Amino acid sequence: MQPFQFHGPASLVVGRGSVESLGTLVAGRLRVRRVFVVSDETLASAGLLDRVVGPLRAAGLEVAAWTGCVPEPPGEVVVAAVAAAREFGPDCVVGLGGGSNLDTAKLTALLLTHGGELSDYVGDSRVPGPVLPLVCVPTTAGTGSEVSPAAVYTDTARKIKVSCLSPFLRPALAVVDGSLTDRCPAKVAADAGIDALTHAVEAYTACGQAEFQARPGGATVYQGKNPLADLMASEAIRLVGRYLTRAVLTPSDTEARDGMALAGTLGGLAFSNAGVALVHAMEYPVGGAVHVSHGAGNGLLLPFVMRFNAGVRAAALGEIGAMLGAEATVDGAIHAVEELRTAVGIPTRLRDLGVTPAMLPSFADKAFAIGRLMRVNPRLPASPAEILAVYEAAY
Ligand SMILES: NC(=O)c1ccc[n+]([C@@H]2O[C@H](COP(=O)([O-])OP(=O)(O)OC[C@H]3O[C@@H](n4cnc5c(N)ncnc54)[C@H](O)[C@@H]3O)[C@@H](O)[C@H]2O)c1
Ligand SMILES: [Zn+2]
Repeated sequence: MQPFQFHGPASLVVGRGSVESLGTLVAGRLRVRRVFVVSDETLASAGLLDRVVGPLRAAGLEVAAWTGCVPEPPGEVVVAAVAAAREFGPDCVVGLGGGSNLDTAKLTALLLTHGGELSDYVGDSRVPGPVLPLVCVPTTAGTGSEVSPAAVYTDTARKIKVSCLSPFLRPALAVVDGSLTDRCPAKVAADAGIDALTHAVEAYTACGQAEFQARPGGATVYQGKNPLADLMASEAIRLVGRYLTRAVLTPSDTEARDGMALAGTLGGLAFSNAGVALVHAMEYPVGGAVHVSHGAGNGLLLPFVMRFNAGVRAAALGEIGAMLGAEATVDGAIHAVEELRTAVGIPTRLRDLGVTPAMLPSFADKAFAIGRLMRVNPRLPASPAEILAVYEAAY
């Protein structure tokens, strides 16, 4: 077997009720004193902020909470979080929320530690060293940001979502408590859940390590498919197949909520080692140009990219079909994903999102330029024209 590496957060605590031990985990393991919590008003009103701040204060920690996060965070929001954090002077940053808040927390810790502008860190491995200890507590099930080395924000001037990727952005501690997702609205649960599926499918069908290393581009945080990432991806796919529809359609189904919380984290562990590929590259320009969430954009594009990759990943896609309880063929897998997408209300056509045909060529150019994602894709698009054809199919 070819040697491979596997990375995650330093500590991962999973399970219903685990947030109650947050204070002792943070005080005992990280040995910090002043904690800056990054979250949003919706979660504060829903009582979830108290469920985090309470245990932290009970453990004797000084806590300041900032609730200015917004979905798909613009860079300006991160700058505001950093200004508030500087006044408090924390030695630890806790993110509470969906991927948007967790990413805002990661970028806050990054700028507090190293200064500069967000754009200094966009791309792969541009963070110069460790950041303030980061703790991530997800309230949605799917993004995997709580275990990943990525932090995404919207570059409002360029109208594109961009990502800072660095091993230093992996949290020191992730606490994944499904009970925090119990009141997650159906649309948010559907979008994040289909994102988890996209992470797992992209990781499971990623190019192999040897193939990856032979491609131009140098070292990256992603390494291509490996056996441990496959294990995590397969289980994430099975869990999404079993629980996503239940979690979205029956919000009180706590078994489904817990299953999806685990699926999101497993998908995060898989993709953050193997990599994500063409679906994510194609979603970034769409998400920057029209109002669609990351998960919904990915879910829309996923079956089209599976079709694009089918010729070089027939076996893996067949396995995915079986994991989803469908026929073990390419068509079985694609139909299962399409059915799941429809069952939870993910849009199926780009034209329904306000995308116009005139936008597609520039989307294709932008996606093609995201080399770190392109090179993970099993079928390497040779030109923007090939990607344009996938956008046209999805239009
Ligand atoms: N860093 C990574 O590795 C990574 C991976 C995938 C996605 N992302 C990013 O994550 C973002 C999407 O995150 P998301 O799908 O988790 O949604 P989100 O964080 O954008 O949240 C969407 C909305 O749901 C609300 N919400 C969240 N949890 C709730 C709860 N339990 N109860 C009630 N309301 C709740 C939030 O207040 C917010 O208004 C995108 O910006 C995407 O690019 C990052
Ligand atoms: Zn994603």
